Amino acid sequence: MARRTIFVGTFVHTPAPSTLQIMENAAVFVDEDGVIAHIDIDTSSPDARLNNDLEEWSGAELIFTRPSENEFFFPGFVDTHIHASQYPNAGVFGNSTLLDWLEKYTFPIEASLANPDKARRVYGRCIQRTLANGTTTAAYYATRSVESTNLLADLCLKAGQRAFVGRCNMDQNAPSYYIDEDVETAVRDTEATIAHCRKVDPEGKIVRPIVTPRFGPTCTAELLKGLGDYAKKENLFVQTHISENKAEIAWVNALFPTSKGYADVYETAGLLHDRTILAHAIHLTDEEIELIHSRGCGIAHCPVSNLALSSGNARVRALLEKGIKVGLGTDMSGGYSPSVLESVRQATLVSRMVAMTEGEEAKLSLTEALYLGTRGGAEVMGLGDKVGAFKVGMQWDAILVGLGNVPKWEQHEAENGANEESDSPSQPGEQEGESAEDELTNGLLGLGGFDSESEAEAEDHVPAEGEKLTEPKIGDGIEEDAVDIFGWENWEEKVAKWAYNGDDRNTLGVWVAGVEVYRKGGSPPTWPVECSP
Ligand code: GUN
Ligand code: FE
Repeated sequence: MARRTIFVGTFVHTPAPSTLQIMENAAVFVDEDGVIAHIDIDTSSPDARLNNDLEEWSGAELIFTRPSENEFFFPGFVDTHIHASQYPNAGVFGNSTLLDWLEKYTFPIEASLANPDKARRVYGRCIQRTLANGTTTAAYYATRSVESTNLLADLCLKAGQRAFVGRCNMDQNAPSYYIDEDVETAVRDTEATIAHCRKVDPEGKIVRPIVTPRFGPTCTAELLKGLGDYAKKENLFVQTHISENKAEIAWVNALFPTSKGYADVYETAGLLHDRTILAHAIHLTDEEIELIHSRGCGIAHCPVSNLALSSGNARVRALLEKGIKVGLGTDMSGGYSPSVLESVRQATLVSRMVAMTEGEEAKLSLTEALYLGTRGGAEVMGLGDKVGAFKVGMQWDAILVGLGNVPKWEQHEAENGANEESDSPSQPGEQEGESAEDELTNGLLGLGGFDSESEAEAEDHVPAEGEKLTEPKIGDGIEEDAVDIFGWENWEEKVAKWAYNGDDRNTLGVWVAGVEVYRKGGSPPTWPVECSP
């Protein structure tokens, strides 16, 4: 259970696909169930609850963003497609494309996780790393192994990461060392993992099962049907891959000659509905897009993987215009990075490649990509009313992002208007004049400085006790993170710098359902070791 907490300071989120809302002086009240109970959009207003109603919230913890460190809260990321079992291979893919990549890299690592000790190491690290990158919700593929799939569910629950966990099914065209015996065994093993998820988290608050036929080529029509029927009967989510690679599509057409195409193979098996997550969806025909839309399926757009395995560029704008739900998937390790932020930036770049042939409208703005990585993904996973934004009634699934400060030796220049000519646009609602940040940096005036300060000025300043006049050395500040803030950026620019240059070093804290699940530099969690199989 969460502690009642009031988060105060700067909040950034995407309540709508083209809206980046920045609330600079806000407070979000989170109750003991991790639910957002109230939001003060402007704490300087006399009506703000923070100024009136605190008695009711006495005993609540207060957590502030620090303006000087350019900190802000952002909704936790939603990864709609990730293979926890492939984490050791993140970055290891050479020049392969999908089908040879599966044979060479992927089936061997997945099969090896039948060893529970190895699975524990791999899944433990995967969860830690994705949490550090701000992934608060993930749709995970595990492996064929019931034991290791159950272990993944246990570890997600223990770590507090919201997850859909699926046992990977395949009963044909898989290596002899990594294949389901027959349809009955595959369905029975899947049922066992579903029963386990339901046992460890009966209400599915954090961990839920998901039915996972790997993809068309490795599943017989009977297995697809068996899993489709089971998912319908049990009202479960389904995840699979579709139309990722041209050779894969040709193979599906050859394996299922009576079907009208890849999507129709899944349609025949009853696998397409509003609880279905389809990964990739790059080479869909117009009829398939129509079918997927009519069935209410969601799509996991996986730009990093689609580039790494040279699968192709998904036409995301066309999917969105059709009204299809779209989220982002890292597809690690088809994608080399476990970070949804990497997928956000690559989604914008892939859309620019599409724009080069299809026109400017194909471009996704950074705001749209951030929306896909949060709210869009939440909708794909049926959690649209629960996570992905800061709204009363939603869960507090959030990241505290910090971009660091302006180096001390530069603050004098920044404060004295050395950059006044900066023509960067101001945020609507951006406050002018003295802010807490100004007060803080004013206190440091004259402390550092390369050579812009005269001796006289320096003498005017009495350094605080223990503070030294330091000059920057080469390398100072470089180790902190990869984002350099100069002090003149508006919030929209700061968010863009984070999105394009930031990484897990900028994640200072992560909460799921109001519970702190990660803190940068915090003592290493003991949960992977403690967790019983
Ligand atoms: N198609 C079937 N299996 C996989 C997988 O593990 N990753 C990706 N990207 N595509 C697949
Ligand atoms: Fe995948």
